[in-house]
Amino acid sequence: MNDEDDMTIEKTILCIGAGYVGGPTMAMIAAQCPGCRVTVVDINPARIAAWNSDNLPIYEPGLDELVRAARGRNLFFSTEIERGIRENEIIFVSVNTPTKTFGLGAGMAADLQYWEKTARQILEFSDSSKIVIEKSTLPVKTALAMERILNCRDNGIRFDVLSNPEFLAEGTAVRDLEHPDRILIGSRETDNGLKARQTLVDIYASWVPTGKILTSNIWSSELSKLVSNAFLAQRISSINAISALCEKADADVVEVSRAVGMDSRIGPKFLNASIGFGGSCFRKDILNLVYLCRNYGLDAVADYWESVVQINDYQQERFIRNMLGAMFNTLTGKRICLWGFAFKANTGDTRESPAIFIARRLLEEQAEIVVSDPKALENARADLVDAKGQIRYVEDPLLAAEGCHAIALLTEWEIYRSLDFPKIFESMAKPAFIFDGRNILDHRRCFEIGFNVYPVGKPPLTHF
Ligand code: NAD
Ligand code: UGA
Repeated sequence: MNDEDDMTIEKTILCIGAGYVGGPTMAMIAAQCPGCRVTVVDINPARIAAWNSDNLPIYEPGLDELVRAARGRNLFFSTEIERGIRENEIIFVSVNTPTKTFGLGAGMAADLQYWEKTARQILEFSDSSKIVIEKSTLPVKTALAMERILNCRDNGIRFDVLSNPEFLAEGTAVRDLEHPDRILIGSRETDNGLKARQTLVDIYASWVPTGKILTSNIWSSELSKLVSNAFLAQRISSINAISALCEKADADVVEVSRAVGMDSRIGPKFLNASIGFGGSCFRKDILNLVYLCRNYGLDAVADYWESVVQINDYQQERFIRNMLGAMFNTLTGKRICLWGFAFKANTGDTRESPAIFIARRLLEEQAEIVVSDPKALENARADLVDAKGQIRYVEDPLLAAEGCHAIALLTEWEIYRSLDFPKIFESMAKPAFIFDGRNILDHRRCFEIGFNVYPVGKPPLTHF
């Protein structure tokens, strides 16, 4: 008798898409709801094999333990999509929805091909009624398209479509899933829609306080996800725009953001000036919002949100221009070490990482690059595969900096704060520079050791 036979199965859940969202989210549901049998399927067999191994396909603090606790008990990873659809009553769809790269809306709109393919598969393989849940981030009114595809056959099988966007952030996914600020569930306000919504509320209520489970109409739910990401990104672009002004006005952006953030109406989070936001979602979701607004003829609204992305591009280019200016307007032949390649700390994910842009710009300036990162070197190699031979990859940050003219700190990994800076300084070419793209180092101390220090949004500390 296996563990599963010991339990009464109350609900059978499938998740299509075993990525950064599907894997951790389903592991949390399985861990918190022992009465649910959760299966996660994907078209990518290597990803599924990794989920079934000791070497999970993504790095996320606490995820190994979470998966290990439930896998084989009530959590399963499989490539059998057709069987999964047949056997499960609740289906989450968590496939990727990247920015379209072709045709109408290229570079702006969401590419819904994976999403639509999934809808058609659900229709084809279902022989009983299902609740289908949008977990992916989607343009408003996608649920309508899903409903139209799913309910196009008149064969007595019902599909109720819900929207349940995910708000986890990478690097803190397990904590965010266990203690979410809110769970949002949107549905049609019909009897069947409300019944389906209650089924999903009951699942989350196993561990999330009911006051944090919000229900809404389905379009509000879809839109709230895009707007949440847009607001978060807007705060970063706002402080990054101010960082440029601070550099001109001899103000210190950290002091400004502390002073501003202590206003309880504004709050302190997401006000860290940086090299710009990265990650697979902010850019794509804002562009998606911009595209929607333009489609509805709301050009002023579209322009407003598009400027958040424009400031982000500006901030990345500004970082390179500051490096060039500080290093005597030429980087040709100079060796520059990048500390960090992941788009943020505590993840190996490099999707849309500003480090990709910065590495490419440095290569354009004919610099030599050494990339260092505790978790993201494999992804960095893949991102820069076309520049093979021009870049060295060294995990140890001290070894990576040896012989370099400059260090550019791009990811706020905790390990970078407490390295042996006198030793690093000794090993570098002189004059030695540090460009702290995250403002996490002790700038005064680095300066006293001998470095020329260029933070973001603060006056530089130089020996010239
Ligand atoms: P991902 O690329 O890591 O994972 C998506 C998975 O779906 C891939 O493994 C892919 O092989 C699989 N897939 C694609 N088409 C399929 C099909 N027809 N059948 C089966 N599997 C299929 O993406 P992700 O980061 O998990 O993001 C998924 C969605 O969640 C996106 O819409 C994203 O905007 C949203 N989201 C992401 C995050 C995040 O932190 N990454 C947070 C919140 C929301
Ligand atoms: C973000 C949101 O925080 C999640 O709520 C959302 O679910 C997710 O996008 C998504 O939809 O994919 P994530 O991109 O994983 O999560 O990470 P964040 O912590 O939001 O950081 C995004 C980027 O902004 C990173 O590059 C980070 O370094 C940067 N950032 C963040 C700053 O530059 N300054 C800050 O003050 C905060």
